[in-house]
Amino acid sequence: MRISHFFLYILGLVLILPACEPSEQPSTPSFSERRNLERTDNAEIESKIDQLLAEMTLEEKIGQMMQINNSEYSLSENRGTHFGAPPDVQVSIDTTKLITFIEKYKIGSFLNGVAVSKERWRDYSQQLQEVNMRYNRLKIPIIYGVDHMHGANYLENSTIFPHSINIAATFRTQFSTDEAVAVGQETAAIGHHWIFCPVVDLGANPVWPRFYETYGEDPYLSSVMGAAYVKGLQDNVNTAPYRQAATAKHFIGYSDPDNGWDRTPADISDQRLQEFFVPPFQALVDAGIKSFMINGGEVSGIPVHASYELLTALLRDQMGFKGVVVTDWEDVVRLHSQHKVAKDMKEATYKAVMAGIDMSMTPYTTNFFDALKELVEEGRVPLERIDLSVARVLRLKLELGLFEDPYPVQTNPPATRSEENVKNALEAARESLVLIKNEGILPLAKDTRKLVVAGMNADSKRGLSGGWTLRWIPDSDDLFPSYVPTVFSALKKEFDQTQVELATAADIASKATNADAIILAVGEEPYSETPGNIYDMNLDKDQQDLIKRAQATGKPVILIMVAGRPRLVTELLPETGAFLWAGLPGFEGGTAIAEVLSGKVNPSGKMPFTYPAFVSHWYPYNHKNMERFFSHADSMNTIAGFGHGLSYTSFSYTDLKLDKSQITGQESTTASITITNTGNRAGKESVLWFVKDEVGTVTRPVRALKHFEKITLQPGESKTLTFEVNPHEDLSYPSKSGEKVLEPGDFKVICGGLEKAFVLN
Ligand code: BGC
Repeated sequence: MRISHFFLYILGLVLILPACEPSEQPSTPSFSERRNLERTDNAEIESKIDQLLAEMTLEEKIGQMMQINNSEYSLSENRGTHFGAPPDVQVSIDTTKLITFIEKYKIGSFLNGVAVSKERWRDYSQQLQEVNMRYNRLKIPIIYGVDHMHGANYLENSTIFPHSINIAATFRTQFSTDEAVAVGQETAAIGHHWIFCPVVDLGANPVWPRFYETYGEDPYLSSVMGAAYVKGLQDNVNTAPYRQAATAKHFIGYSDPDNGWDRTPADISDQRLQEFFVPPFQALVDAGIKSFMINGGEVSGIPVHASYELLTALLRDQMGFKGVVVTDWEDVVRLHSQHKVAKDMKEATYKAVMAGIDMSMTPYTTNFFDALKELVEEGRVPLERIDLSVARVLRLKLELGLFEDPYPVQTNPPATRSEENVKNALEAARESLVLIKNEGILPLAKDTRKLVVAGMNADSKRGLSGGWTLRWIPDSDDLFPSYVPTVFSALKKEFDQTQVELATAADIASKATNADAIILAVGEEPYSETPGNIYDMNLDKDQQDLIKRAQATGKPVILIMVAGRPRLVTELLPETGAFLWAGLPGFEGGTAIAEVLSGKVNPSGKMPFTYPAFVSHWYPYNHKNMERFFSHADSMNTIAGFGHGLSYTSFSYTDLKLDKSQITGQESTTASITITNTGNRAGKESVLWFVKDEVGTVTRPVRALKHFEKITLQPGESKTLTFEVNPHEDLSYPSKSGEKVLEPGDFKVICGGLEKAFVLN
């Protein structure tokens, strides 16, 4: 937390209202006062908003608060673009249906897609906007939303980066920026205005099926990775005149459901929410993110879409967010249909709007329109409340330049998969692979005669890329371009002098007889959201059986985990020679894996989460002291701790020093450490700095990441790095209402296994 935010927090404290039903909330400040507070210093934009609001009818205003899925006006009869019709039909327009949405319901936003060509996207966006401009009385442009989650995944022939869990493992924020820049270059000009990324939900529950969309379990790592994405997307002047908005997902508490399943209840104490879940979202607000999407689940008994406390008191008043809040999929109606906190759709609409949503991703129906209209006409929802949201939506459209030119590029869309973008995606994949265990087997010898390759992800393109690739859930490799390698095809290329053979469980024993090693790429099939719910974190029986068969051959076994979350193989690891966590490394992942196995690339990824050993016992690295009181040592509870990752060289950490061992809250102390490459090949090392607060009124984590830096060292080379410990940013923690608490006492700075104590007076 930066010092400037301290004051915001204090201000937030004063403004936070007690929790109660949205219906009882007198907004403080009032809706029109809020609207004034949110005015920017761009006088032209603000006066255009005033002018439009003065001219718009109630229906036109409500239409701007709605977002409809593209399936509802496509030529397909199939509901949703997630499944069903072929892509060309999904990204197509039934003009009669579209005109109804625009003329009758004044809809201001649409969403969704699948991977079609950039020309098709351009023509689609052109047609959509043309119809809108003809039938929208005030010529308010459409804003179009797309889930580009790891590169431009809903565009044919695009650059597909590793998923965020891998980006986090690189410990290089530049890759997050590179990913966003590639999305901008490839999609800003074809009408993708609003990108539903990044996800800064904390990777708090490894069972949760959206774990791979997160930057792992640490709030600081998530904060800096997410902020780097926002900068790369929103501040990219090279896409001019086209601009894009990023979206902070999914505010808040989504990622720690009690039972691990998607959109199920989470019980999170206010203090824990403030300390671990708020900071990544706060970092995105500070980076200037233009929109937030809301968690469809409940936190501590209240669905977030109905929570004034979270959507207004926390997000607006404490965190200072001024942009657009969009609901997630169908989440207004679900207040009635699923959560049962509203007796009907009208009450659900009332609750969501009064809690603080600006736009409803309805996404199939227009019932939000009728419900909200009635509520305003009855005087239950004040017009000022509507104006507040519409002003935010209009500001977003104006800031993106949509009023100046709502149309996509009129010539050829920009090239995709530029050399630079693909190079960045490949480099990100390389640096994201974490070598968890290596008993001298890797890198494989140059004169390896035969390699046997097996496992469900050995020859799978979709396995490497996971969900949100070309489709919501890519269920066939036939969808993928021919140039995307699998682990097997990349190994054949990398080891072109070696016999590389694919095996199954049935023939692995016979094929391995004259092999030097067996490579098993195990893991998961792609999934997104609810279809990714699991009953058991253990790798399934068939895959475990394959591993056992491979081990029974007596040949060295190299196990590669290609999965969106940690699947457990604990009992099989002692007999495994090398274990590589590959996560979901994307289109370039096969190449990156083969290069790490051959030694062309020296692995440098580090775990962005704790890889648990047991199904029923996991805790993050930044757990509380008491969590380990009765339990075994870390090494027994986890397969790999946060920050673990082997290299083909070795690094030593020496000379940890602090320039002051006593400081006051107004001073900082600078820590320094020397890292030396003590092996015989060049390598990259992520240097992680932690702080430990020895005693706190609120129980403190055993350590917390505060800073990191990745360096390259040649054999024998040393570098001295520093970290300035700033008390307000690094030693404080939030109270349950978000106020910063800085308690004098004993602290430690920890780096590379060394620690140094200091005192805050
Ligand atoms: C997901 C969001 C996504 C939205 C639009 C929802 O089901 O939770 O992450 O942005 O769909 O596709």
